[in-house]
Amino acid sequence: MLTNRVKAQLPREHLLMDYDWRFALGHAYDAHKDFNNGTGYFSYLAKTGYGDGAAAPGFDDRTWRKLNLPHDWAVEQEFSPQGTASHGFKAVGRKFPATSVGWYRKVFNIPSSDLGRHISVAFDGVYRNSIVWVNGHYLGTEPSGYHSFEYDISEYLNYGGENVIAVRVDATMEEGWFYEGAGIYRHVWLNKMNPLHVATNGTFVTTKVKNDTAYVNAEVKVENRDTKTRVVDVLQMVYDANGKMLASAIEKNKLIKPFKFLNVNNVLMIKDPKLWSINNPHLHKLVTVLQEKGIEVDIYETKFGIRTIHFDALKGFFLNGEHVKIKGTNNHQDHAGVGTAMPDALQDFRIRTLKSLGSNAYRCSHNPPTPELLDACDRLGMLVIDENRLMGVSSTELDDLKRLIVRDRNHPSVISWSIGNEEWGIENTITGARIASKMQDFAKSIDSTRFITAAFSGGMGAGLSNVIDVMGYNYVVNKNTDVHHEKNPKQYSWGTEEGSTVATRGIYVNDTLKHQRAAYDERQNTNSLSIEEGWRHYASRPYLAGMYIWTGFDYRGEPTPFGWPSIESYFGMVDACGFLKDDAWYLKSWWADKPVVHLLPHWNWPGKEGQGISVWVHSNCSEIELFLNKKSLGKKTMEPNGHLEWQVNYVPGKLEAIGYKNGKIIANDVAITAAEPSAIVLSANKTGIKADKEDLVMVTVQVNDRKNIQVPTADNEIIFSITGPGKIIGVGNGNQTSLESDQYFDKINVVPIENLKEKKVANLEDNKEEVATYHNDDNWVKAFKENQDEKFAEHVKALVYRGNFSLPADQSEAMVTLYYNSIGKKQSIYINGKKVGDNLSEDKKGNEFKLDSSILHAGINTIAIEAVPLTKKHGWEELNTNPGSIQLVYPAQAWKRKLFNGLAQVIIQSTGEKGEIVLKATSLGTKAGILTINATPALARPAVDN
Ligand code: GAL
Repeated sequence: MLTNRVKAQLPREHLLMDYDWRFALGHAYDAHKDFNNGTGYFSYLAKTGYGDGAAAPGFDDRTWRKLNLPHDWAVEQEFSPQGTASHGFKAVGRKFPATSVGWYRKVFNIPSSDLGRHISVAFDGVYRNSIVWVNGHYLGTEPSGYHSFEYDISEYLNYGGENVIAVRVDATMEEGWFYEGAGIYRHVWLNKMNPLHVATNGTFVTTKVKNDTAYVNAEVKVENRDTKTRVVDVLQMVYDANGKMLASAIEKNKLIKPFKFLNVNNVLMIKDPKLWSINNPHLHKLVTVLQEKGIEVDIYETKFGIRTIHFDALKGFFLNGEHVKIKGTNNHQDHAGVGTAMPDALQDFRIRTLKSLGSNAYRCSHNPPTPELLDACDRLGMLVIDENRLMGVSSTELDDLKRLIVRDRNHPSVISWSIGNEEWGIENTITGARIASKMQDFAKSIDSTRFITAAFSGGMGAGLSNVIDVMGYNYVVNKNTDVHHEKNPKQYSWGTEEGSTVATRGIYVNDTLKHQRAAYDERQNTNSLSIEEGWRHYASRPYLAGMYIWTGFDYRGEPTPFGWPSIESYFGMVDACGFLKDDAWYLKSWWADKPVVHLLPHWNWPGKEGQGISVWVHSNCSEIELFLNKKSLGKKTMEPNGHLEWQVNYVPGKLEAIGYKNGKIIANDVAITAAEPSAIVLSANKTGIKADKEDLVMVTVQVNDRKNIQVPTADNEIIFSITGPGKIIGVGNGNQTSLESDQYFDKINVVPIENLKEKKVANLEDNKEEVATYHNDDNWVKAFKENQDEKFAEHVKALVYRGNFSLPADQSEAMVTLYYNSIGKKQSIYINGKKVGDNLSEDKKGNEFKLDSSILHAGINTIAIEAVPLTKKHGWEELNTNPGSIQLVYPAQAWKRKLFNGLAQVIIQSTGEKGEIVLKATSLGTKAGILTINATPALARPAVDN
């Protein structure tokens, strides 16, 4: 029965809708600069289908920039001291109305064969306050910058033709106190399915394991959006990662009325299951098939893991019955070079980086993550706290919490729902306790298998600290966890934020003027603990399940303890590129299994000869012996969860730390004094890349001296060029005070054609005077004042229109194009007296003319158009009165970045074709670096094509 399935003609399609969008900045309050959206006498809130301005399907967006998603326009902006520290001083927000609203438009085709299907457009997340239209139809407003949302567009589509989606995004308001980006920074999808289908996020798989058997509870919600009652068989099959079917179930002949749901629930048994764990994250797949009269109408796949989780108030957290100490990090979605617009491969890179430190848990501070982050955690074995944005119990707020849980509840990585973070206004009040209780009970009513936590900052023993299932301590320096535990012996607990040091990668001397903080794990202030103090607290108390460091990666914004021009946080264990700071080695020593010896600082201290330098070693070896130029400086015993220190008088040469266990050498680290930079060396996180338009290679840039020793203090500016099927999408170096650009791309300036006047003439031919540059048109009348009906056409055979446009002083550096819209049935176009378009007939799609710089000049330029006038047959018709606009494209400058303490990063993405990608890096006075990356053929994800 289960194997003899008849395939549906049109199975479900889940199409990536990331490519070939048009983008332009609008305006937060100037309607004209916001492409006249919302200005119609009847606009989109008045009449269905009345999306106006840039929301109108016919809007001319040819001058807009072409780009692919994910996209963060905030990261493209300049830095400004007027910007907010929380958002990394990018020129976006309240004070920057001209760069705080972004518009996205995309044309897509829908074949006529799709008629009758249920079609929706789904957004993983848009920052923020997005409004979406399809073919001018308003679909809705989503205030959240983090929640996923979906609109049914089946009825609005033009089947067998072109369709237009328009999205207005308003990043004026901030949700968080950290960098949040701006724009469609996560994927967009076009979903097509039968009207009878598995509902969005309509499966819920939970697992129990007893003895050698897994009991997979598979719930499915089937939705009927058809106008007639449907009869359906629901098949459920579980497959292992190798595609072997392990169990199945079927429910037959179920009736679903129009607009109703059907819930099916089966327990599938699996003998000797492969469990999902941190070291072996085995994923299973539930395939749900809907069948009608033996024919498949929907197939829906749900990845899940078989695993058990529980907390113990005395012993902490258990995965599959085994104790796991939580070694976690907090992170925001932000990376050097790309901001919040992180391709999936970057999620992968970041989770791998954290895992390499021995970290096993990730807190999505302080908002719902993108689903692809959770996919990476599922795939790589990383536990997750999935966090809600704002605490509250209004129906909107509870619904947001529900959306988060329903979307994410099949991810085996998710072990806890966090209902909130440091809600200062309520967390230690009775109101806070009530809100938390209500949210907690509500969350459990949707998913009773995860543990509910909240991150708490103060007022122990009050408010939500009394009611929350898993107490989340943010910073224990001012909290006595032992006393709280004694008073609440049944409450589970962990450190949702801990270890608050601020450090600059590769810096070993505090320098307030330069905004640099040394990497010797110093407490940020008296209100916080160092990483070591924090970890010692958690490591030594079994009742505490573990802790989450603030933070894994540095992120834009919150440049504590500095302000402008620091634009990035100093909290990370790794910098914004993912380069390890020294504290990361402390954690790696006590978190990971492999032997670690890490020496700090570097050994390049010219001018400090003979002076004492504080040398630290992070290691998990039992003894460490330090050598300077082969002379032993003594052996020291390492205390568990500690580090070792020496004071060493500086002599250039080789400093070496040798690690022993049971008297045997098991690891070492060296710091060698480097000479001048001699050659650029490029290395990548992988040698190949999938030619699928999405995959990435993360390139590390460094310079070595003549003896091939890395120069740890180098700050050379490096220029990059790339050939082959790859493109650079961002550059960074982890310097919190760098105001260099993250991205280099063609800049677009659009200039309107203004002051359009007209004069009636006899024909199209004899208007030499009227089209000449300096013709005096003072007496001409404003264009299009008259009603151009058929009567008008009887006595007006031709017109000359004259207008002007103003070009900036640097116009000669730009490629200039006139994007023309017909304002006549026939027309010729003159720019500064030179004919650029001859005798053109009316074209609804418009014409495009590249304008040679020899006919243009800075300042006022004239345009003259001889035209046989457009006329309307009916009074209600609207004639085009806009001749278009002038686009200036300034070609991108070369990609470049300074090294910061010896390192920089370049992110390269596949352009979709196979072949060799060659990255070349040059810098004055050094040998160029060359890196070849092979882009190998790969199946791209199914995507919407134009
Ligand atoms: C915490 C907060 C974090 C971050 C951190 C910086 O209070 O939860 O989001 O702001 O402080 O020290």
